[in-house]
Amino acid sequence: MVAQNKIVPPDPSRLPRHVAIIMDGNGRWARKRGLPRVAGHKVGLESVRAMVKACSAWGIGHLTLYAFSSENWRRPKDEVSFLMQLLRLYLRSEVKELHENRVRLNAIGRLDALPAAALKELERSQALTAKNDGLVLTLALNYGGRQDIVDAARKALALASKGKLKASELDEERFASLLCTHGMPEVDLVIRTSGEMRLSNFLLWQTAYAEVYFTPTYWPDFRQPQLLEALKDFARRERRFGDIAPRSA
Ligand code: FPP
Repeated sequence: MVAQNKIVPPDPSRLPRHVAIIMDGNGRWARKRGLPRVAGHKVGLESVRAMVKACSAWGIGHLTLYAFSSENWRRPKDEVSFLMQLLRLYLRSEVKELHENRVRLNAIGRLDALPAAALKELERSQALTAKNDGLVLTLALNYGGRQDIVDAARKALALASKGKLKASELDEERFASLLCTHGMPEVDLVIRTSGEMRLSNFLLWQTAYAEVYFTPTYWPDFRQPQLLEALKDFARRERRFGDIAPRSA
């Protein structure tokens, strides 16, 4: 992974700390070309590689990718098993390079439902890269935002029943510490490809103040120039977090 010389990112002080991407449009990309849906996933993996390279080179701290939602199990069996295999192959072939580039691999979601082989590869990759101080690459796998919130509420109840948490102590910060993204900064920028304009149960709590960028580009065509456009758009946004625009003195 070398620094991208040709593409200059926007002002580093205006970069998001945490970018989260809903990678959508693989199936349509393939259909447009008369290819099976899985061909879109395969080329989509090249876009994943491009994002990791760019975010690493440009100093973005966190990249979270919606790789498999808790609803994606409804897809045809063959497609689900292709996606799981792709995940395993990606980890197996890429982990060494990720490690060399100080990327820390992380995963969120109800991981115990993943096929054993994929889970094993995931755990191996996480263990190898655990101490890295570069980009934190988080794969959301069998992830659902509502599930994440329900799981956190269950943890709060369990703590309360052991006398370790009082209702009056449960504020937003404490609740966030029980979510699977604990320790990560809130999402600054959500990108969704393929022209769909919804969050689809992705990081519902964590995107409360995120800027959202929608693009008609299908995921397999979303590469560094397209990411740069999204980052430039983000850099122009005025983030107010509920406040009003800055007043002149
Ligand atoms: C959505 O497009 C895409 C997915 C559900 C899977 C995303 C997976 C990859 C990009 C490849 C594997 C990634 C990793 C990290 C190993 P869609 O199939 O819903 O597209 P459509 O809406 O056009 O049908």
